[in-house]
Amino acid sequence: MSDRYAVIGNPIAHSKSPWIHARFARQTGQDLEYGRIEAPLDGFAAAVDEFRAAGARGLNVTVPFKEQARRYSDRVSARAALVVNTLVFQDGVFGDNTDGVGLVRDLSVNLGVELKGRKVLLMGAGGAAQAVVGALLEAGVGRLVIANRTLARAQALAARFPGVTASGYAALDGPVDVAVNATSAGLAGKPPELPQGVLAKGTLAYDMVYGKETAFLAAARASGARGVDGSGMLVEQAAESFFLWRGVRPDTAPVLKELRAG
Ligand code: ATR
Repeated sequence: MSDRYAVIGNPIAHSKSPWIHARFARQTGQDLEYGRIEAPLDGFAAAVDEFRAAGARGLNVTVPFKEQARRYSDRVSARAALVVNTLVFQDGVFGDNTDGVGLVRDLSVNLGVELKGRKVLLMGAGGAAQAVVGALLEAGVGRLVIANRTLARAQALAARFPGVTASGYAALDGPVDVAVNATSAGLAGKPPELPQGVLAKGTLAYDMVYGKETAFLAAARASGARGVDGSGMLVEQAAESFFLWRGVRPDTAPVLKELRAG
């Protein structure tokens, strides 16, 4: 029987992860099955218990279960101190987070953005933002400002990392080299309003949402910035999870190309 993996979340029907991991498996000749699990909102642990009992080897975890996945883990890596997106079922449950490295790899390798010494704005202070702060700092960004609608939440997150500052949106001054939208406002609602000049020509505006022209990207482009969606981060975080599970690093370029082509 093939080794079993899945992505767990709620909702989960539109997740691209099974599609991506099927391509990685074919490309690397790995014998695995990767499905999707929609757990009830109050049934994360029970669903994971059941999947493990059936012999599963690992899971990707998405909204809204990433904090619960950290609590479910017996051990977590440093980069998963706040939120877990990958579980490895081997000698108990190991929790890791591949989102931060996925974002940094997309920015630096796929998009050719030099992060060292750059001024970076991270918008949002929820799980999506928490997952990437450490990786941005490790990439050597010069200045990292976390802005959030609820200032106290940005302050609490910034306080965990030396040198990181917190701000409300209205108090930001620009321009920034890279602006990452990690709020959940992108899809339906209006994105946070930034003062004139924060997004400018020369800014890379990155929306973690993938496959959509969000209002944030439209606003960024209107300010002369380069706008990029989160497809690359999605594929890169998947590749890092695949590597954790299988010890083999897939080539992300053809998969990202195919994903973008729709
Ligand atoms: P996730 O795990 O996706 O990050 P979350 O923990 O609920 O989800 O966090 C959502 C983030 O989007 C928060 O930073 C939230 O701001 P608040 O902390 O002030 O709530 C942000 N957010 C959601 N809707 C928003 C909106 N309409 N305008 C600005 N920020 C918004």
